[in-house]
Amino acid sequence: MTSPRGRFIVFEGIDGSGKSTQVEMLAEYLRSQGREVHVTRQPSDRFVGKAIRKVLSREVSIPPQALAGLFLADRYDHIIGEDGLLSKLDAGIDVICDRYFWSSFAYHGLDMEIQFVIDIHKEIFDLLTPDITLFIDILPEVSIQRIASRSEQRDLFEKESILSDVRQNYLAAFAKFPDVNIQTVDGSKSVEEVSKDICTLV
Ligand code: ADP
Ligand code: TYD
Repeated sequence: MTSPRGRFIVFEGIDGSGKSTQVEMLAEYLRSQGREVHVTRQPSDRFVGKAIRKVLSREVSIPPQALAGLFLADRYDHIIGEDGLLSKLDAGIDVICDRYFWSSFAYHGLDMEIQFVIDIHKEIFDLLTPDITLFIDILPEVSIQRIASRSEQRDLFEKESILSDVRQNYLAAFAKFPDVNIQTVDGSKSVEEVSKDICTLV
């Protein structure tokens, strides 16, 4: 007997919006419901994902187009590579992913046309569209404060004015996909309240 396919659940939001916190809380909730859950993130922890993190931490510098290309490559490997996401979903495992292609639309849309980034993802879209995307919405001034209390070092995109543009790009990208299941969650609430809203939606 084949098991029913797992659900692909994606978290999105600007840096410091609370994604990592909520990913763990949702995983715990689903496991308490008897589901098998795989938690992952993009950039992935695989070969290309590791290279991407060197760019994000400013250890190396490459043109924005090259960074966008690396994210696309990482996504292919993460999805269809050995022991990738499709194999987990096919085995009936729920996958929760901290960021997905919406992040590419929002962040690389800072340096190039959003539509171009969407276009190069057409095949990825056909391979694996999220069953549900949870967008944790929060104002950049709040997320920046949270990031500041979290660490000294700033990643490539962690500046208030940049995150404000990223948030606008998210909203513009979502508007282009009215038929995709995208749910917005108010990230300014307490950790417990946000988690409750998310569990209700899922
Ligand atoms: P992200 O993964 O989106 O960058 P995190 O989950 O790492 O965000 O959260 C960023 C910081 O804000 C962490 O220090 C975390 O403990 C804190 N945090 C997360 N959610 C909330 C919340 N709802 N209210 C207040 N602080 C929060
Ligand atoms: P991450 O560790 O997820 O940051 P945070 O926990 O603060 O949200 O860092 C990923 C960074 O990479 C984040 O600044 C967004 C950026 N990014 C892109 O530019 N393009 C992408 O496709 C993805 C998935 C992330």
